[in-house]
Amino acid sequence: MIYLDHAATSWPKPPEVLAAMTDFLVHSGGSPGRSAHRLSLQAARPLYAARESIAAFLHAPHPLRVLFAANATQALNLALYGLLRPGDRVVTTAMEHNAVMRPLRDLERQGVQVVVVPCAPDGSLDPEDMRRAAVPGTRLLVANHASNVTGTLLPIAELGAIAREVDALFLVDSAQTAGLMPLDMDGMAIDLLAFTGHKALLGPPGTGGLVLGTRLDPAQLRPLIRGGTGSRSEQEEQPEDLPDKFESGTPNGAGIAGLMAGVQTVQHRGLETIRAHEIRLTTLLIEGLQAIPGVRLYGPRDPRARTSTVSFTVDTLRVSEVAWRLDEAYGVLCRVGLHCAPAAHRTLGTFPEGTVRFAAGFTTTEEEIASAIRAVREIAR
Ligand code: ALA
Repeated sequence: MIYLDHAATSWPKPPEVLAAMTDFLVHSGGSPGRSAHRLSLQAARPLYAARESIAAFLHAPHPLRVLFAANATQALNLALYGLLRPGDRVVTTAMEHNAVMRPLRDLERQGVQVVVVPCAPDGSLDPEDMRRAAVPGTRLLVANHASNVTGTLLPIAELGAIAREVDALFLVDSAQTAGLMPLDMDGMAIDLLAFTGHKALLGPPGTGGLVLGTRLDPAQLRPLIRGGTGSRSEQEEQPEDLPDKFESGTPNGAGIAGLMAGVQTVQHRGLETIRAHEIRLTTLLIEGLQAIPGVRLYGPRDPRARTSTVSFTVDTLRVSEVAWRLDEAYGVLCRVGLHCAPAAHRTLGTFPEGTVRFAAGFTTTEEEIASAIRAVREIAR
């Protein structure tokens, strides 16, 4: 089996992640922040340690500004529904995932003005187009760091500077880059950073979060859900304290312990090494696929302008047929179709059929890439 679906979720998880999850359930099985007994205290420690390590990894201002959520989608929903009010103007890009687009289209019906800045057919964005759209009075800029369809990197630091120029807040969807590319909330002027734990951070599904930058006043952000926090229990109103305001209910302790082990694995290997590996694999994929007659590639050709997520089509075959044959005959597992990102596919010109997507990751080898390319060549023939 050749697993090329790391953009959906990374697999296999490092043994350290599985061990940390088991360890949490065996030794720290209490409900954190609820009781004063030893198992409850034991459960709270890994949660705070995870906040600290994620805050350091993302250059966040404080561990308590790391708000855990079930995934990047929930974190993005918290940011968008928490911040935007009727009459607000929000500017985003034509390469966003439905985790951004669907909340925005819903908010649009409630009176939020949504402006979508077009991108080039390879998914890239000219920051000047964003500058023109982000007029004074804009409340929020939202952009992904990398597309989940083509891996195209957006110029996040430049977009952050544009947001500052007009005093707008800047929300980044780092689902495809956290654990793969350096993220510096301060240096990139990111006010809200949504991340997922189960992709390049190598953690389990059900983990992720929203990190708040210094410019974001938490009082401006409404929680998505309200309930028990184990704190200020005399009140029937949601507390304002961080992170409790945004983390009602028993947290995913085992998942978060696993996420921390994933982050440590990434730190141990080093972002530079991980990125160099991805660039090598992307170079091989692009060279191999573009040499096959009838195969059409999407996204930038420069591996430095993208992640290792590579989309393609085969002229004479439906994408579902290609993916099915890859799995059935060659054991190559990939994702096919619209990838929950219809806006991105409209930008690429691949809507509504979509593309076949290869997404290499942490564990992918050069030999696996060579085998996958051979499989596509045989299928295209
Ligand atoms: N958004 C994830 C993907 O692109 C699930 O596959």
